[in-house]
Amino acid sequence: MADQKRTQTAGADAAPTREAEEGEGRVAPGAASSHELLRIRGLKTTFHSHHSLVKAVRGVDLTVYDGDFLAVVGESGSGKSVTMKSVMGIMPDNADVEADELTFDGRDMLAMSDEQRRCMRGPDMAMIFQDPMTSLDPVKTIGNHLREVLKRHRGITGKRADEEAIRVLGQVGIPSPEQRLKQYPHEFSGGMRQRVLIAMALCCQPRLLIADEPTTALDVTIQAQILELLQRLGKEMGMSVVLITHDLGVVASLCNRVAVMYGGLIMETGTVRDIFYRPCHPYTRALLGAVPNPNESRTGRLESIPGSAPSLIDPPDGCPFAERCSFTSPACTRGIPDFIDYATGQRARCVFSSDELDAKQEGRK
Ligand SMILES: Nc1ncnc2c1ncn2[C@@H]1O[C@H](COP(=O)(O)OP(=O)(O)OP(=O)(O)O)[C@@H](O)[C@H]1O
Ligand code: SF4
Ligand SMILES: [Mg+2]
Repeated sequence: MADQKRTQTAGADAAPTREAEEGEGRVAPGAASSHELLRIRGLKTTFHSHHSLVKAVRGVDLTVYDGDFLAVVGESGSGKSVTMKSVMGIMPDNADVEADELTFDGRDMLAMSDEQRRCMRGPDMAMIFQDPMTSLDPVKTIGNHLREVLKRHRGITGKRADEEAIRVLGQVGIPSPEQRLKQYPHEFSGGMRQRVLIAMALCCQPRLLIADEPTTALDVTIQAQILELLQRLGKEMGMSVVLITHDLGVVASLCNRVAVMYGGLIMETGTVRDIFYRPCHPYTRALLGAVPNPNESRTGRLESIPGSAPSLIDPPDGCPFAERCSFTSPACTRGIPDFIDYATGQRARCVFSSDELDAKQEGRK
């Protein structure tokens, strides 16, 4: 592993290092701007559960830039939701969260009190989930949900709150918003409830919206409408969006950058185009088996890969993908591989470079 800082030159003469690609003042390729909104370094989240420790997130590094629409993909249990909930500060009591760095718009979140972190939820970052019903109180009208948020986060009450609630419901595409304010969650369809949740998030005017599989429970047509809504709102409001999804078609059509997770680690990051056209990590290559071309499909789901993900109670010392990877060599089990940085701006956590993997693949034919 002596040459881990090798760089694929791929037509570029600059050789980005880890610091150059992720560091101050340098924009990751494909990022919407140069301003780091969220910076995560060395994030680890461990659950204390039934006399065992679940190492759900094992050292995640990720940056979200202003205006980004970043997809986080990976198989079930890879740590996508736990990563983002840890950033939001909404983990249960049995979770230990630590990080080397966690900043939002340059502010050190690790130095903040619980109350300061709580105050960030809403105006700075908001999160929406797969099942809107769990986030809505069945005995409160939609109007009351929105009024509460407006009062708490923006100090808006009375007639002004109603006007703002109606405006935001209109913004998320809910017809007849005046009438809808008086209704209860069960009087809304699944898609409309998800729009209400987005409206509640928008009432806080967040700079970052984290959407955790927001459309999984909805039918395909409604899914597309909600995701396009998120994209439009992101652009209109200058809001960054992190979208956790299993749908690669959605990633290809909506997002600008992708982070691929496996076994509690980020395995690869890059622009949507680079990840789809030239995935550098064997895991990403396996996932993309179903949808090799971003223009080919809008509905491809993650490819199912033979074998199962590693236990996070006793994760392997080496590459977590080693048991399922067709390129495994002894070097793969000697510690977690470092990232290789590519001239395209991609980073992949594998002992072999993309060219070496190609050569191995070619040699098998
Ligand atoms: N409260 C908890 N207590 C113990 N372990 C947990 C808890 N919440 C999550 N985990 C574990 O953490 C790991 C990562 O979970 P996470 O929910 O982040 O996965 P995910 O990538 O979001 O998966 P999915 O695509 O299914 O939503 C899993 O092994 C999960 O079982
Ligand atoms: S480090 Fe080894 S096991 Fe892991 S993805 Fe690369 S080749 Fe496969
Ligand atoms: Mg999840």
